[in-house]
Amino acid sequence: MMIHLQDIRNNPNFQLLIQRACDYLTARGYTEHGLRHVSYVAKTTAYILTELGYDARTVELGAIAGYLHDIGNMHNRKYHGITGANLVYTELRAMGMDLDEICDITTAIANHEEEIGAPVTPITAALIIADKSDAHRTRVHRKIPEKDKVSDIHNRVNLAITDSRVQVDAQAKTITLDIDFDQTSCQIMDFFEIYLNRMEMCKQAAVKLGCRFRLVINGLELLGHVQTSEQEKKAGA
Ligand SMILES: [Fe+2]
Ligand SMILES: [Fe+2]
Repeated sequence: MMIHLQDIRNNPNFQLLIQRACDYLTARGYTEHGLRHVSYVAKTTAYILTELGYDARTVELGAIAGYLHDIGNMHNRKYHGITGANLVYTELRAMGMDLDEICDITTAIANHEEEIGAPVTPITAALIIADKSDAHRTRVHRKIPEKDKVSDIHNRVNLAITDSRVQVDAQAKTITLDIDFDQTSCQIMDFFEIYLNRMEMCKQAAVKLGCRFRLVINGLELLGHVQTSEQEKKAGA
């Protein structure tokens, strides 16, 4: 049966699971992972795949994977890609989605985290870039005490990112993450301390999509000039 993104959004089970995942992470002090985050990831995954010329159904499966990618956090942050993929598998089976399409979605979900994931398919690669690009000051929870906004590096870095956008240039074959960073409140080195692995993963993901990943902070290109054969090998692994 053809299941659309709207069917997923309307499914009360998914609504509950997304809320529970967000509650768990809030309780543990993580940045925002609620509807705003998953809607952004769904939209950005679809944007990347559309710009690179993938067919409409692949784009929609990418959007669904993006919308559901963080559900595993309702159990635990650790391995939430894999636990989430299993939850999504069960729920999509119950909705009657084709098994082949379910696998496209769950593979992407199970591989979106840098700890154990790899950009094995175009949907996975687009989802990784979409997810890792959502570093932004609106993700810092409002109720966090003022002192934790500065002492916690994740909060400090996210607060310093005043704007961020992903841009695909299909002609030039580049995917650019363009960040505006307020250096009066945080150092760019702090950004790399927590985001270096994620940016490396984005580089590999871009290679899977036949592109080069560019990281631009305050107009300065910090990653993306050269793609080594080592990275190409990793991306294909
Ligand atoms: Fe995640
Ligand atoms: Fe996420």
